[in-house]
Amino acid sequence: MAVTPAPPAEPAGEAIVDWYATAARDLPWRTPGVDAWAVLVSEVMLQQTPVARVEPVWREWMARWPRPADLAATPPGEVIRAWGKLGYPRRALRLREAAVAVTERHDGVVPADVAALEALPGIGTYTARAVACFGYGQRQPVVDTNVRRVVARLVHGRAEAGNARASDLSDIAALAPEDDERAVRFSVAVMELGALVCVARTPRCGACPVRDRCAWRQAGSPAHDGPPRRVQKFAGTDRQVRGRLLDVLRAAHEPVDAAALDAAWDDAVQRSRCLDSLLTDGLVEQTADGRFRLPS
Ligand code: ADE
Repeated sequence: MAVTPAPPAEPAGEAIVDWYATAARDLPWRTPGVDAWAVLVSEVMLQQTPVARVEPVWREWMARWPRPADLAATPPGEVIRAWGKLGYPRRALRLREAAVAVTERHDGVVPADVAALEALPGIGTYTARAVACFGYGQRQPVVDTNVRRVVARLVHGRAEAGNARASDLSDIAALAPEDDERAVRFSVAVMELGALVCVARTPRCGACPVRDRCAWRQAGSPAHDGPPRRVQKFAGTDRQVRGRLLDVLRAAHEPVDAAALDAAWDDAVQRSRCLDSLLTDGLVEQTADGRFRLPS
């Protein structure tokens, strides 16, 4: 009896784009018509910070600073205050510096060229391509941690991505659909797959559109065999102490004296080290009379 051959599987990239149409979160920076500046701000905020925390702050920023020139004209202290508790506050300063550079070098328009984007303060490989792709509709490999994990499993049969490699960009480019518009959607779709389904600890393979093509599943879902993932501590770290000191300064609208900062953290050695590092980073400044404030 003749055996009917199975129909050729849809390429993985196409299946991921189809899945995205049904499963994507409705996030404000993905709304059609959102411009490259709004995308740039969202991508910087989303580095190391969950979507739920970013969303309200991003909305406030876009209402207050709808164009790069608006942010560029704002004193750094105001920008740090508006960053609120997103964490890693040097990002706020870098974003303001990027806005200044866009205003001075590019007439206030975020450049579409990846090299020009990478030349902006604080904009690296990932963010430059994310802006070119999501802000300007260019076919670009956009590779964050989630995407690297999807590629590690789907293509290479490894449980985890390990360190970034030069081949990450070409691996993902090879999966992208041929059609340019679908390739653009693929870049955000594969990121979403890594964020919602192909997650680090307990992947939801039952919901995965490419589970029958996944090299990791075909290999029996082997456990990660490299060094254990680093889990970021927060409690007691300098990062927490810096956050506490900045909380005091954000709440104050006048310079504060050292005693007000003493109340933020008990350990004087750690507190002083953290205050020094905030001064060095330009996140805090000292007035002539020895008090502290956000930079003017
Ligand atoms: N959409 C586009 N880029 C994103 C990101 N970095 N995180 C979540 N959703 C996104």
